[in-house]
Amino acid sequence: MPAASPRGAGRWPKLWLLAAAAVGPALPRGSALSVELAPEVPPQSDVDQWGAELIGAGAGLAHRLGLDAHLSFKEVAAMVGNYNRSLAEAVASRAPPSTEQRLPMVYLHVHKSLGTWMCKMARAQNASRPGDADCATHDDWIWAKKSWEWYDFDNTCSRRVKEIQENGWTFLEIERWVDFQDDSLHGDWCPEDAFYTMILRDPMERAQSQMYANMQSWASVRAWLAEGESWPTPYNYLHSHIPFDNFYVRTLCGRTCHFLEAGGITHAHLELAKSRLQQLDAVMTTEDLLTQLSQLTAITGWRPATKAQAGSVVHNTKCAAGTSRLATDECRAFALPPSAMEQMRDANRLDLELYEFAKQVAKQKTDALL
Ligand SMILES: *[C@@H]1O[C@H](CO)[C@@H](O)[C@H](O)[C@H]1NC(C)=O
Ligand SMILES: *[C@@H]1O[C@H](CO)[C@@H](O)[C@H](O)[C@H]1NC(C)=O
Repeated sequence: MPAASPRGAGRWPKLWLLAAAAVGPALPRGSALSVELAPEVPPQSDVDQWGAELIGAGAGLAHRLGLDAHLSFKEVAAMVGNYNRSLAEAVASRAPPSTEQRLPMVYLHVHKSLGTWMCKMARAQNASRPGDADCATHDDWIWAKKSWEWYDFDNTCSRRVKEIQENGWTFLEIERWVDFQDDSLHGDWCPEDAFYTMILRDPMERAQSQMYANMQSWASVRAWLAEGESWPTPYNYLHSHIPFDNFYVRTLCGRTCHFLEAGGITHAHLELAKSRLQQLDAVMTTEDLLTQLSQLTAITGWRPATKAQAGSVVHNTKCAAGTSRLATDECRAFALPPSAMEQMRDANRLDLELYEFAKQVAKQKTDALL
């Protein structure tokens, strides 16, 4: 991990304030840090100094990585508060795995779950990858218009391996539902040939991000949730109930399950999604992402790149978090109204359960590095 030295108190970025406001539980008891504390007033006692230093380091890192442009205030504050710098530094200080032993990395990119950011990181690491802004081939992206037959017959592991080898890729993303055919011959799941990694966000945050990014109002989403029937084709589903009805479970529970009608996802699908999540090589959740990125460091030797190295191109900045446009009337039209929260939560309760499970898996996988 690059040196995440805290800056002088007066020069800490505005994120420091956000973090201080939301970090309560992660700080030692009796800490004087609170919303009221101005960042210009450095904490006095050793314990407070330690807490502030950690937050300063985490905030600086999150900001330098450009995460604050993609995530909500709440998500960034949580990851900064949870950041375990000593763990990250311990992992980063080890020798990276040798290049010859490394499998290429496949990132499972759920829409609005940091896939573009991961691609930027890969670019900053000089990883060889497909040239698309999301590091996906157009067979694997969310706009692909393929038939079911293509997935049945052409989407094979041998084809994928050949493509990876011919292009010398070390990183690529699958930016759509994942075809788990579990026979290691067909589908997107080829664990002998690649490392699989994934970042999950709080499903409510993800849904809200999509509404802004794709300019979808709650009125549309509510209608899709009420009427959504099982989807006939493996494409064009971004404007449907699918992304707003347990999208993470749907991504991991296979293709039949992915395209089920609104309300069609069951506990059995959740259990299947959980078992698949455990099989991934790296699982990260946003609320402790800065620490959990160590899983990638351990697999690939990657050090988190800075925002400047990664470049600042974001392909969809329309109403994105971190842009001032969020406060405009145009963007407000795509906000999830408070009165809709309960319905959205209810429609996604299996995803919310999966997210809680993912946090445990991510922690186990991170702790296992020590
Ligand atoms: C942070 O990481 C260290 C290892 O470097 C570990 O001993 C410690 O328990 C971790 N702290 C938390 C709060 O998880
Ligand atoms: C990537 O390549 C550039 C240009 O060759 C180099 O300056 C940079 O250090 C490389 N970054 C990494 C992480 O290897």
